[in-house]
Amino acid sequence: MNILFVNCCIRGEASRTMGLCRAALEEIRAKYPDAAIQELCLDQEEICPLHSDTLARRNALEHQKDFSDPMFRYAQQFAEAEIVVVGAPYWEYQFPALLRCYIEHISVNGVTFAYGEDGRPHGLGKGERLFYITTAGGPILDRNCGFDYLKTLLSNMMGFTKLDYVAAECTDVIGYPVEEELQKAEARLREQIRNWD
Ligand SMILES: Cc1cc2nc3c(=O)[nH]c(=O)nc-3n(C[C@H](O)[C@H](O)[C@H](O)COP(=O)(O)O)c2cc1C
Repeated sequence: MNILFVNCCIRGEASRTMGLCRAALEEIRAKYPDAAIQELCLDQEEICPLHSDTLARRNALEHQKDFSDPMFRYAQQFAEAEIVVVGAPYWEYQFPALLRCYIEHISVNGVTFAYGEDGRPHGLGKGERLFYITTAGGPILDRNCGFDYLKTLLSNMMGFTKLDYVAAECTDVIGYPVEEELQKAEARLREQIRNWD
């Protein structure tokens, strides 16, 4: 079992989202003691959006089905993971742009997905489960755009079938019982992980 933790908690160990992620990883380790867990800290990676030159180079290599270039390392790592845990704070109703750039790098035709004869994409990797962890300064309501977007992408293009999230809300609202909110979110995520089939 390969588990990948995509860490987009930009504020590092001070991040409330990161605190929830650490609890999730502890619970995951207890549930799957033999699993290999890799952590990819996006803040420490040189991940840029695709530009005309990098896109042209990538398209040429995709066409040749040559995925030996280091530019494909994120897609290859992602394709090997059965479970992907994504931790990202709620920014502009979604998540930090760094995560969007990472998504461009993992969405590689021939590594993580391919198009069938009917023109529809299907997954090529091992990914089954996405667990998305976020915290928001205010209420999220029905605007969990970051999770909704990842769910759309990973279920339609990459074959993921189990996609869920935990959020702690109102972390920046003055007077709100933030510690209690975080503790409740931690309890929920631990229970969800214990119940994974
Ligand atoms: C750049 C930026 C954008 C943010 N956008 C939103 C937002 O759209 N809605 C919201 O409720 N909170 C927003 N927040 C507040 C964060 O969601 C909140 O502080 C969150 O708990 C941060 O998590 P962290 O402690 O893991 O960094 C934003 C914060 C930053 C720094």
